[in-house]
Amino acid sequence: MAIKRTILIVCTIASLSLVSSAQTCKNYKFSNQRDFQSCADLPVLEAYLHWNYNSTAETIHIAYRASQTPRGWIAWGINPTGSGMVGTQALVAFQDLKGNMKAYTSQIKSYNPSMKPEPLSFPVSELSAEYSNDEMIISALLGPLSNGTTFNIAWQAGNAVSNDIPQSHPHFGPYVRSSGTLNFLSV
Ligand SMILES: *[C@@H]1O[C@H](CO)[C@@H](O)[C@H](O)[C@H]1NC(C)=O
Ligand SMILES: *[C@@H]1O[C@H](CO)[C@@H](O)[C@H](O)[C@H]1NC(C)=O
Repeated sequence: MAIKRTILIVCTIASLSLVSSAQTCKNYKFSNQRDFQSCADLPVLEAYLHWNYNSTAETIHIAYRASQTPRGWIAWGINPTGSGMVGTQALVAFQDLKGNMKAYTSQIKSYNPSMKPEPLSFPVSELSAEYSNDEMIISALLGPLSNGTTFNIAWQAGNAVSNDIPQSHPHFGPYVRSSGTLNFLSV
């Protein structure tokens, strides 16, 4: 009896420490009863993508969340024409001068992009941003997306926003490894 109880306690502690040392997207609960069936722990920048893919409509409802201070900005996007940063059709979020979270779309056309608001090469609706638990979260409905279910994606974070314009991000380590490929049919 005593041994069994000890084993149980050890197992409970082991699983708790796993949860606290490695946060995974699967354990995350959104506010407002939003529910996403699929998610991915992105490898750098403490970033997570949650999504529902609708194969009939070829649309993806996404929530991208990443660790950030209220002064910084985050961005996530699909690159339909290449890999890495240039060409990315980005969703961007930051806290504006009035203190409200703001989300918009911008095309990353060079390594020194304007970051100005503009439409993307595919439809985007239901765009919103929030700040919760030291994370910025961007939500949106993307599509119809006509090129299958596997896309090159890129994401980024920067420390500063000036006059409501996100400023250049650092250029080392995780900030230059923040791109990859994602199949929206994967779990
Ligand atoms: C997927 O999209 C179709 C067409 O717009 C819609 O009828 C259907 O309800 C959607 N499915 C889900 C699960 O949202
Ligand atoms: C699909 O491919 C076309 C042509 O390359 C491109 O313009 C468009 O942005 C792509 N859409 C997506 C969602 O990747």
